[in-house]
Amino acid sequence: MNKILIGIIVLGSLAATSNQVLGSTSHSSGHNHNTTFNQTSLTIEFQKPLLIPPLLKGEVKDGVRNFDLNVTKGKWESIDGKFTETYGYNGPILGPVLSLKKGEKTKVNIKNSLSEETTVHWHGGILSQDVDGVHNADIQPNTQKSVEFILNQPAATLWFHPHPMHKTASQVYKGLAGLIYLEDDISENLNIPKTYGVDDFPIVIQDKKLTVDGQLTYSTTHMEKIHGKSGGSLMINGIISPYIDILNGLTRLRVVNGSNATNYDIDLDGKEFYQIASDGGLLSSPISMKKLTLAPGERGEILIDSNELNNKSYLYINGKQALELRKNKKTGLTSIPKTLVEVPEITKNLNSLKTRTFSLKTTSKGNTINNTPYNMEKLNFEVQKGTQEIWEIKNGSKMMDMPHPFHVHGAQFRVIERNGKTPPLNEQGWKDTVNLNAGDSVKILITYTTDGITVYHCHILEHEEDGMMGQFQINK
Ligand code: C2O
Ligand code: CU
Ligand code: CU
Repeated sequence: MNKILIGIIVLGSLAATSNQVLGSTSHSSGHNHNTTFNQTSLTIEFQKPLLIPPLLKGEVKDGVRNFDLNVTKGKWESIDGKFTETYGYNGPILGPVLSLKKGEKTKVNIKNSLSEETTVHWHGGILSQDVDGVHNADIQPNTQKSVEFILNQPAATLWFHPHPMHKTASQVYKGLAGLIYLEDDISENLNIPKTYGVDDFPIVIQDKKLTVDGQLTYSTTHMEKIHGKSGGSLMINGIISPYIDILNGLTRLRVVNGSNATNYDIDLDGKEFYQIASDGGLLSSPISMKKLTLAPGERGEILIDSNELNNKSYLYINGKQALELRKNKKTGLTSIPKTLVEVPEITKNLNSLKTRTFSLKTTSKGNTINNTPYNMEKLNFEVQKGTQEIWEIKNGSKMMDMPHPFHVHGAQFRVIERNGKTPPLNEQGWKDTVNLNAGDSVKILITYTTDGITVYHCHILEHEEDGMMGQFQINK
């Protein structure tokens, strides 16, 4: 059957059953908030290979690793034969993976080729205000800006995205998101998959509201301001229903929830896999699990063992087949290490620390923290560099039943309590974003090592822009 014919048949069935999910099997994976996938796509599923963004090593000059990022408009074939107007770093959608080493000087030359201002924020990077991409960071159209920084923190999968006032949500939604693979001596010497695009894959998950002719416009209704912008087209690295070839043995997926507002439950149809890293680094040992939940902004690295899989298996997202895993003939690593890295134990007497509370609320009037919407002109509090505090974060949105992923810039923190109990194993490593379902209360231990004005916010980008954000100053 040729392609045109398939196209016609699919079109026909779409017309007959408008909005029906095309050719995919669903299974239930429990209740998931604010997500309904009605894939209104004309794409034949699992025919396109996963997009593997280029892994950039940069160019070392005088001991500084240099990268060029061009923030640009593009056209992207989201649906077969239909081109979507998008934004991307160095290409029509998403961005490259920057390969960085802990402690190394990095310089990124950013050129803004959009027709509106943008900024670049290094999500998860322990960085001060001057390079964080939020305050005084606007890069005007057709101008360039270079930022220099050193990431002195454990190996991790970080990401970068725009953060201009009132334009973060729309610019991320149009496609701006890239990854950082931060390595250190420990991660480089671990016996885990690390051959990029062979047994180590970046997986950026996003859902968009694409029209049947592949258009993507960012606008928010009143309901979308409350619930966040979500949509029925699920993309992995910008592609709907892609496939990858995996080795016999272990495959590492570095999964990023890059959506504006949707939580993702990720599973292998009940089969076992292992989580090896959370937002800010590797865990102390691989954790066996059957489902990983990631809220917007969160990352999780998992190891998949092909022995668990059939020749063709699927990664499921919110109960739907989302990525086809095809076993190939080659063999990779086969043994899962018993331990990974040393994650420092929390030994300090926590009672001696100051506790601050943050209450996140969505009401029909808007989104606030401690009943106050974000005000760029106002500091919510000040702290001293070098100190540690406990933050008690509460989701008070009982009525609205909204989850809120709470994110802090310039820090990697530790979750010490979730609803009065020890957090689950996969929340015991380094985190920069922590999800709170309605009614949840979470305590984190945070250490201030950067300086300047730092923000914290809900990573549902519509909530952030509507006011669920605050800022504090870290004094030297
Ligand atoms: Cu990815 Cu201010 O965040
Ligand atoms: Cu951030
Ligand atoms: Cu929120």
